[in-house]
Amino acid sequence: MSDVLYFNGRFTTTDERVLGVEDRGFLFGDAVYEVFKFLSKQPVFFRDHWRRLARNLDAIEIRNPWTEPSFIEAMRALLERTAFADGIVYIQVSRGEGPRAHFYPDDMVPTTIAYSRAFKFPDAAKKERGVQLITTVDRRWKHCDVKSVNLLANALAKKEAQRAGADEALLVDEGAVREGASSNFFAVRGGRVITHPLDEHILPGVTRDHTITVARNAGIPLDEGIVREHELGSLEEAFISSTTLGVMPVVKIDDRPIGGGVRGPLTAQLQRLFDEAEAHAVGF
Ligand code: PDD
Repeated sequence: MSDVLYFNGRFTTTDERVLGVEDRGFLFGDAVYEVFKFLSKQPVFFRDHWRRLARNLDAIEIRNPWTEPSFIEAMRALLERTAFADGIVYIQVSRGEGPRAHFYPDDMVPTTIAYSRAFKFPDAAKKERGVQLITTVDRRWKHCDVKSVNLLANALAKKEAQRAGADEALLVDEGAVREGASSNFFAVRGGRVITHPLDEHILPGVTRDHTITVARNAGIPLDEGIVREHELGSLEEAFISSTTLGVMPVVKIDDRPIGGGVRGPLTAQLQRLFDEAEAHAVGF
């Protein structure tokens, strides 16, 4: 089925082949992207996603094709044209199209795409059942805080997880547990929640950020720190977070069950608190 596609300011469908072969997003991975969720055709945590997109464009010096009002207008128009109520919007801005060369001119016109897609968010049973992870080597570049489309290492790690019968790959860098291939990672140890600090090793997840806020507001002890790979076997609980999964329990890492292989109480509480915060963050 074709989806509504926003391409450089006009609307078409994903059936139309819009990209030129010399687009730098295609040839060099010279692009950033964003994913937000929508419910009843209303975006969730909209401003967080807009701010992160603007920051990422700045980080790699791509001209932002939007102002905040024009971005709101474009996304509103996209969701109005969308045939289903709930799903995700994928947005990508590349540096633009031009003759292939590592050097790029300073005045390139960015290529902008955005499309909506139906998405089945986890139901109550899935949110209780949780997911299984495998650990693998973090082979990504050194600016994982930039949401760039260079996702080869992430995709290979994810495939490795799938082959092992797991749902997600946990990326480990010289013993330091960083994050999932497409999610942030949280552990519970000694009754305290711990998640990787914001730096160049992880993506600053919107879900991560709101999970930290709801935990702190509820008085749940939470530290930003590094979990080491050798500590994974002794965790009381673990969970991952992302726009599509929300807060998702981790019940197994490699061959070791976490917390007896069932969702832990702090994870369940944070899941509830995050879902409440999300419900209050629906709308432009
Ligand atoms: N992935 N870390 C990585 C490497 C990610 O790719 C993602 C999101 C996250 C979670 O960020 P957020 O809570 O803002 O979704 C963390 C998206 C959903 C994707 O690539 O499809």
